[in-house]
Amino acid sequence: MLEYTLSEIDKAAEALRNKELVAFPTETVFGLGAIANDYEAVAKVFAVKGRPSDNPLIVHISRPEDIFAYAISEPKRDELIQQLITHFWPGPLTLVVPIVPGTFPENVTGGLDTVGIRLPNHRGTQKLIDEVGIPLVGPSANLSGKPSPTRVEHVRHDLDGKINGVLSSEPSRIGVESTVLDVTDPEHVQILRPGFVTKEMLQKHLPELSVEVVGLSDLEQDEKPKSPGMKYRHYSPSQPVIAVSKEKMLSFIEENSDKVIGVLANTDLCDQLNDAIYTYPLGDSVKEAMQNLYTGLRFFDELEMIELIVVEWYPETSENAAYCNRLEKASSKIIY
Ligand code: TXA
Ligand code: MG
Repeated sequence: MLEYTLSEIDKAAEALRNKELVAFPTETVFGLGAIANDYEAVAKVFAVKGRPSDNPLIVHISRPEDIFAYAISEPKRDELIQQLITHFWPGPLTLVVPIVPGTFPENVTGGLDTVGIRLPNHRGTQKLIDEVGIPLVGPSANLSGKPSPTRVEHVRHDLDGKINGVLSSEPSRIGVESTVLDVTDPEHVQILRPGFVTKEMLQKHLPELSVEVVGLSDLEQDEKPKSPGMKYRHYSPSQPVIAVSKEKMLSFIEENSDKVIGVLANTDLCDQLNDAIYTYPLGDSVKEAMQNLYTGLRFFDELEMIELIVVEWYPETSENAAYCNRLEKASSKIIY
C-alpha cells in the first residue's frame, strides 16, 4: 500500500480514476475512496471491506454546490440544504437527500432512492477530490466490524496489500464518524446516526427546525432501520467489550480480577488504578474520549493477553450521544 504525500495527490488521483482504491483522511475517520460513478470501482470497496451490499455509501464532494446536482430539487428542501451547508460544511455532517435517478450506480445507494453526501473538512482530501474530478465514495477504511481508522497506521493494519494506497495525514481530529441527517422531508429532519454535530448545534443555527433523533430502539420488530448501517454490530475488537460508568468502574474491576483486563477510561481514573492493570487513557473530556476511543480499542485488540476490555461509559447527554452510540455498538453490555 502506497502512502501518498500532499505533493503526490496527482498520482493518488490517477490511481482512483483507474478504478483503484485509495484511502483518504477526514476530520472524522479515514474513508476508503473509489470513484462514485463507476459500478466496478464501487464494488471493490464492498469486496475489500467485507461490507454487506445493502449498506449504502456516503458520497464525498469538494464543492458544496455540487449537492444540488445530485439531489432532487424541491424549493423548501433546497433552502434548508443551503442553510445547513452554509453553517456546517465543510464538516462532520452527512446529508441524506432524494437522489436524481441515474446519478450514481445502484451499489452506491444500496438500491435506496436517497443518497448521503458530505464535504469533509480536510484540505488534502478536498484537493484529492478536485483533482480526480469525480466524487468519491468513502465508507470508513476499516474491515467491516472493526473500529474505524483514525490514523494511517490503522488503515495499513486492516487494508495493506488490498488497496492501492492512502493519502498521508495527521490523525483525525474528531475521531467518530459524521452525523447522518435525513433532510428528505425539510419540515421534519431526522438524525439517523449521531455524530459530532448534535441536535442542539443544528437548532442553534436553525431554531425553527424540527429534528428527531432516531434510535434503534424506536424500531418495531422486523422493521428496517432507515440508515441500514445502524443495524450492524460495529467497531468491535476480538475480545469482549463491556462499558462501565465512572462510578462503577473500580468495583467492576475488583469483581473481575480473575481476568486480564484492559481499561479505557479518563486519564484521572487510569492514574488511580493499580499498576498491574493495563490502561489506555482516553483524556479528560468526552471530546478527547471520542478522539481516542477507536485507537484505544485497536490498541487492546492487538494485545493478546487481554481477555476483557472495559471502557468508561458517559451519561447519555446530547453532547455525548456519538460516543455513547459507538461504544454501545462495540460492547456486549453496559453497566450504568
Ligand atoms: O464520517 C464519516 O461519515 C465517514 C468518513 C470517511 O466520511 N464515513 C463513514 O461511512 O462513516 P460509513 O460507510 O462507514 O457509514 C455510512 C453510514 C452508514 O450507517 C449508512 O447506512 C448510512 O451512512 N447511509 C449512507 N447512505 C444512506 C442513505 N441513503 N440513507 C440512510 N443512511 C445512509
Ligand atoms: Mg463504517
